[in-house]
Amino acid sequence: MSQEFDVCVLGAGPGGYVAAIRAAQLGLKTCVVEREYLGGVCLNVGCIPSKALISASHFYHRAQHEAATMGIEISGSIKVDMGKLQAWKKSVCDRMSGGVAQLLKGNKITLFMGQAEFVSPQELEVQIGTSKEKIKAKNFIIATGSRPIEIPGFKYDEKTILSSTGGLALSELPRRMMVIGGGYIGLELGTLLQKLGSEVTVLEAGDALLSGVVEPDIVQLLSRRLKKNGIQVKLKAKAQSYKMDATGAIVVTALVDGKSEAFTCDKVLVTVGRKPNSDQAGIKKIGLALDAQGCIQVNAQRRTNIPHIYAIGDIAGQPMLAHKASYEGILVAEVISGKKRAYDAKTVPAVIFTDPEISAVGWTEAECIKNGFKNLKIGKFPFAANGRAVSILETEGFVKVIADKETHRILGVHMIGPEVSNLISEAGLAIEMGAQLEDLALTIHPHPTLSEPLMEACESALGHAIHIIQKTN
Ligand code: NAI
Repeated sequence: MSQEFDVCVLGAGPGGYVAAIRAAQLGLKTCVVEREYLGGVCLNVGCIPSKALISASHFYHRAQHEAATMGIEISGSIKVDMGKLQAWKKSVCDRMSGGVAQLLKGNKITLFMGQAEFVSPQELEVQIGTSKEKIKAKNFIIATGSRPIEIPGFKYDEKTILSSTGGLALSELPRRMMVIGGGYIGLELGTLLQKLGSEVTVLEAGDALLSGVVEPDIVQLLSRRLKKNGIQVKLKAKAQSYKMDATGAIVVTALVDGKSEAFTCDKVLVTVGRKPNSDQAGIKKIGLALDAQGCIQVNAQRRTNIPHIYAIGDIAGQPMLAHKASYEGILVAEVISGKKRAYDAKTVPAVIFTDPEISAVGWTEAECIKNGFKNLKIGKFPFAANGRAVSILETEGFVKVIADKETHRILGVHMIGPEVSNLISEAGLAIEMGAQLEDLALTIHPHPTLSEPLMEACESALGHAIHIIQKTN
């Protein structure tokens, strides 16, 4: 006998659990099937544990290098206890994951902890331990996410060749860490490991870090900072293979600008992107249409080619970001309940927890031009001219605003600097509301705060920022 539901959600990550809660709020009889952990990759082996470790490494770095500038003397050496650090990280993840369990229970959502497999478009079979459960639902939401891509010659064993999961679970700090891939994950984890004390080298196949994601002037500043902190970055460097030498060290061979080079290290972290889990759960078997990247094809309501099956989050395509998945989760639950909803977000914020942090909404300058906005007004304001940034000793970075020259409509905002992950949402709201430069420039921003540079960047675009010498725009 099958259990029957209005909505069955596959996967309890930030897409799936959010979709389930919204569906339950709307009065739909809802269940979630999850094979591993509540909160998915994000809460357990992704965003949250990495942010816990990044915060700790930042704290350690500041205690070592910056506290004395503020007159705080720490006597004796400051050490990192990797065991305690990992235990603390785990407590953060457990707390968040426990919160998801409570929310599911409080919303009367049935949870099946097991591996789901479609037996037909109407029915799932869930392997729970040694028993099998059948589930029928009027609607299914597939939110089963993605996993790290493996490159030839570097099979993950999570001991010497690590994926992001292994990179976040290190019980000892490697002396020399090789990071393959200079994207989001490689740079976040590379930075944190360097701060904790590893010698880090990043091999990036492209000719720029974070290529296509952020503005070139932001990449330039970040690259300078990485170098200053001692991270070696090799561009146009394609990792090819590795072998162990007589001392037990790993020798990675890469093609750097066409020439073969060898790099010795103790562990290798491979962060070359993620691929959708569409080869699992019987997704292909029931005939769901996939795109060239293997993501499930969806329309603006996140409906697949089988009308009562929806897909959200990483498995439904780029950008593979938790907040986009959650947005889609709410959207789909509302569509199923009969509300008129479609994906109409103008922008998905990007946030990268490097040092300094990077964030962006809307278009880059190149994208503005590509989209037909050739005449632009651009304003830039440095954190070095902001009192709050100076008082926290974090002055590197800037806010850049790009607007249409004629209408002053804001088209893109790009930030690098302290706490910019927390500052970008105001710019996101501006873009969603079609705001003009004047809307932000004429909004009183509290002083002294890190929020002021966004206002001043808009003033700068208009030609009258107060705290920089303004050239005619
Ligand atoms: P990514 O797509 O950001 O970067 C991968 C990089 O690896 C690319 O620059 C590529 O050129 C390079 N690469 C590929 N093959 C290579 C090779 N053989 N040798 C050297 N370099 C090579 O992928 P990443 O960092 O794994 O992140 C995956 C996804 O996870 C991101 O696209 C992002 O959506 C998400 N994410 C988001 C975070 C955030 O929002 N803060 C943090 C971490 C991940």
